[in-house]
Amino acid sequence: MCGIVGYVGHRQAMPILINGLKRLEYRGYDSAGIALMSETGLTVAKESGKIARLEQALADMECDCTHGMAHTRWATHGEPSQLNAHPHTDSDHEIALVHNGIIENYRALREFLGRQGFIFRTETDTEVLVHLIRFHYKDNLTDAVRAALTQVDGTYGIAVVSSRHPRVIVAARMGSPLVLGRGDGENFVASDVSAMLEHTNKVVYLTDGEIATVTSEGFDVTTIQNVKIDRPIEEVSWTLDQIEKEGYDHFMLKEIHEQSRTLPNAFRGRLNWDEGIPRLGGLNMQIDELRRIKRIIITACGTSWHASLIGEYQIEELARVPVEVEYASEFRYRSPIIDENTLLFAISQSGETADTLAAMREAKHRGATVLGLVNVVGSTIARESDGGVYIHAGPEIGVASTKAFTHQVMVVSLIATLLGRMRHLSVQQGQEIIDAIQKIPDQVQEILEAEEQVKQIADEYYKANNFLYLGRGINFPTALEGALKLKEISYIHAEGYPAAEMKHGPIALIDKSMPVVVIALQDPVYDKVMSNIAEVRARKGKVIAIATEGDTEIAERVNHVIYIPKTNRLLTPLLSIIPLQLLAYHIAVMRGCHVDQPRNLAKSVTVE
Ligand code: AGP
Repeated sequence: MCGIVGYVGHRQAMPILINGLKRLEYRGYDSAGIALMSETGLTVAKESGKIARLEQALADMECDCTHGMAHTRWATHGEPSQLNAHPHTDSDHEIALVHNGIIENYRALREFLGRQGFIFRTETDTEVLVHLIRFHYKDNLTDAVRAALTQVDGTYGIAVVSSRHPRVIVAARMGSPLVLGRGDGENFVASDVSAMLEHTNKVVYLTDGEIATVTSEGFDVTTIQNVKIDRPIEEVSWTLDQIEKEGYDHFMLKEIHEQSRTLPNAFRGRLNWDEGIPRLGGLNMQIDELRRIKRIIITACGTSWHASLIGEYQIEELARVPVEVEYASEFRYRSPIIDENTLLFAISQSGETADTLAAMREAKHRGATVLGLVNVVGSTIARESDGGVYIHAGPEIGVASTKAFTHQVMVVSLIATLLGRMRHLSVQQGQEIIDAIQKIPDQVQEILEAEEQVKQIADEYYKANNFLYLGRGINFPTALEGALKLKEISYIHAEGYPAAEMKHGPIALIDKSMPVVVIALQDPVYDKVMSNIAEVRARKGKVIAIATEGDTEIAERVNHVIYIPKTNRLLTPLLSIIPLQLLAYHIAVMRGCHVDQPRNLAKSVTVE
């Protein structure tokens, strides 16, 4: 996620801004930049990579600057590069802007400004904003920013400086947090308090639709419609560590909870409800090319492989195209049968997993069209694929993948619906799926609010040595993912199995010390799953069921039941995985495990 720091006061700005950026590194970024204001005008420096590279670029710079701003970029539009890094400036190099968020109508604005003669140097959505401010500028920077933002659709947290106003920072917020800090003869702007806490704990949080004019003497806050806002100064009591995790004990728990806020990013701007069809421009494939696809292979590792399995169920049911899911590490060494009608999806949060990258290259070498479903913009898999869809989960810091999984499943759901609508799904069927997709974030939040119940279950079973996870159909992969979550952070041996398969061996493991998590939703195989539950209970196994809201029958037949809201059957993994993420997390914490960095694990396995 991008980070913003701004300062205007009586001290040298550069060290304050650079150290502020370092406090925001935990948010994840791929490039960094700074804008410094001095009597001689505006100086901008920016580098791809880490903040240390920016510091090197600044090492020889003489600058008596007590006013400026800095930015760390998490790329959403435009690859990570020095050119695309923020700040972005207008053509006269008088105005500089940093931005966190996504300008959804940036293409239309770019065309509008192009017709006014503006020249663009980068492929970012952000650059459009600085030229739009320039277009509206007359003699007041705040008025120009306000006028520009009335034309913007999307999310933003921005800070703007201009050499014509050497003691002013203009900040505005819509969907991306911004906070103002009050100092003694100095004031601050930042994406979150951690960037300014060493200087002040007196803050004012901007809310959506507000704009602030910040000087060394203070700040004036109004709405975009220029209605004055008087908001009291708050005092922050959190420690830095608490702030980086937004008050959660671990990044993993923060990322589990933020799914209800981030999941809209996976489908925002990608749903055409009138035609009941997702819009996925990044696939770079024409409709007739997609229609010609006779076979799909999905290759991935770990959690991403589980998301791939869910995609298999969805695509085969909605589009009737054969799908094979392959472990990337296996696929790359087989001699796969591939032709020009084969479409290969590589799913990867990091976009750098060595096995997945190798499998993708092998498929490409054999003539397949290769698409990447990736979280990290500009990562190797994203760059080497023929097209793809970014999952927009934001940085995932916890090694155990949580929000990346649900975002991958969300994007695969969009792809399956798109392929289905190209073949035989009706508009109404497409609209039903889209309606269900749009309800998912709120339903995830509803499940998260039952966390205390999951914690109580964790407290009863955290000393177990083995767990079994069972599911059928599209929730068999969810069972696999639930088992992986538990084993990788709590070090408890856990296995996921198709529920019916339990009879072919694993049932020998069942006894009173074996907790069995069963995904038992009201779907066509519900009765079969209930039979499996009875088999477990007959052998004294303890059953923790994930069930559909309103199913009162199951409560009498299991030891614990965690309910999830009703949704389209093909979307249920998006909801049934949430309690399993929470269960794994709380069991690991109760066992004293290092949840965010489990032993032996890396966030991205870039070696074979
Ligand atoms: C999942 O919690 C693990 N972190 C791991 O299985 C991960 O999913 C796997 O290494 C694939 O990583 P990728 O999605 O970045 O390719």
